Amino acid sequence: MLLAMVGSAVGLGNIWRFPYLVGVHGGAAFIILYVIFVFLLSLPLLLSEFIIGRASRLNAYGAYDKLAPNTIWRYVGFLSVLSPFLIIAYYDVVGGWSLHYFFEACAMSFSQSSEIAGMFSNHISSPFAPLFTMGLFLLMTCVVVLMGVQSGIERFGKIMMPLLFFVILAIAIWVITLPGASEGVKYLFKPDFSKVTGKTLVAAMGQAFFSLSLGCGTMLTYASYAKKSDNIGSSSLQIAFADLLFAILASCAILPGVFAFGVDPGEGPGLIFETLPMMFAAMPLGSLVAIFFFLAVLIAALTSTISMLEVVIAYLVEEHHASRKAAVWGCFSVLFLLGVLCSMSFGPLKDVTILGKTIFDCFDFLAANILMPFGGILACVFVGWKMKKPDVYAELTNEGSLRFMSKIYPLIYFFIRYVAPAGILCVTISNFLL
Ligand code: PHE
Repeated sequence: MLLAMVGSAVGLGNIWRFPYLVGVHGGAAFIILYVIFVFLLSLPLLLSEFIIGRASRLNAYGAYDKLAPNTIWRYVGFLSVLSPFLIIAYYDVVGGWSLHYFFEACAMSFSQSSEIAGMFSNHISSPFAPLFTMGLFLLMTCVVVLMGVQSGIERFGKIMMPLLFFVILAIAIWVITLPGASEGVKYLFKPDFSKVTGKTLVAAMGQAFFSLSLGCGTMLTYASYAKKSDNIGSSSLQIAFADLLFAILASCAILPGVFAFGVDPGEGPGLIFETLPMMFAAMPLGSLVAIFFFLAVLIAALTSTISMLEVVIAYLVEEHHASRKAAVWGCFSVLFLLGVLCSMSFGPLKDVTILGKTIFDCFDFLAANILMPFGGILACVFVGWKMKKPDVYAELTNEGSLRFMSKIYPLIYFFIRYVAPAGILCVTISNFLL
């Protein structure tokens, strides 16, 4: 279960989203804010989802309905099912890019840096090619969810997660020693708070939720499989640390290289698809490393989409008695159509904007900056204000048998009840005022 949760948390959020946000928002200052948000807001929320999931042992919707029968809380459960569905719609576009790059790596396309320039923007703006890999990526997700999660993807994840770790570590070490990389290392570890604006805060908090798969039923659903004897406090810490480690490591592998190759760090989403291939071209055995890297990215992305789809399928199967097969293929059809819209927003539909955002950006904004924070606030409020205090105590301390957890319980409860919901609300609202 812990591995599955780490698999869900570690994904494109760490390898693709985090480094480019660090690039856009001015480096170390963003990282510091991010770490603060993880500990002040995300950890209490992760604990809340653990509590709701393990106390109910049901899907996200059923969980709220069981713990607060016949109340409006079930709609919060419904929101927790809707969010991951919307996230898949754009996440699979990036998953598709990773798949395309994996194919390109296998075809040894990253051996000449002259061929790499422009490759990414040409690919994502072409009308049909990205749809093919996006569809294939979605299909892979669906097939695994259909086959069952435990025997397939978890066993695979057990091999791929350590591989991902070592590949990124190796790239990071190599990149940091490049001439010109020291500027990037400085950028990563020397905070410049003058760059911090309200937008930075919102982005850091959104990322703290996105990266830990919070506020959208995923962790809650996985937590429903946790054993009564598991220590949910230490499990949460382990997940948060593993996730942070991957994010920082990915930034070390990418940003110093950005400086060494003279690319603009504020480049945005294209960062890993443009700068890394250039590094692979310059690296000894780079073509081989590229294959492993994009394969690992692909697996990290897959373990995340699988966890999202599982939330929706568990809901459809348990609450609406759909067959697993019908639920999966039904979702595939709708998600593919939404994915087409998101994918095309880099090409033929790039001029279609809502409030100045492309369709893809709208989905990302809606999920990471609105739905996940609100889902998160409501989960904390549910545990802090709706559930009975002794029940929360029993879950957090395993009926009082965990001494350390019993000791810090008042502090955790205070964070769940006041700090996390108020903090998340402030940052989310300020987003609309800025
Ligand atoms: N945490 C995942 C990542 O970092 C994304 C995710 C979001 C997964 C929500 C599940 C639910 O890539």
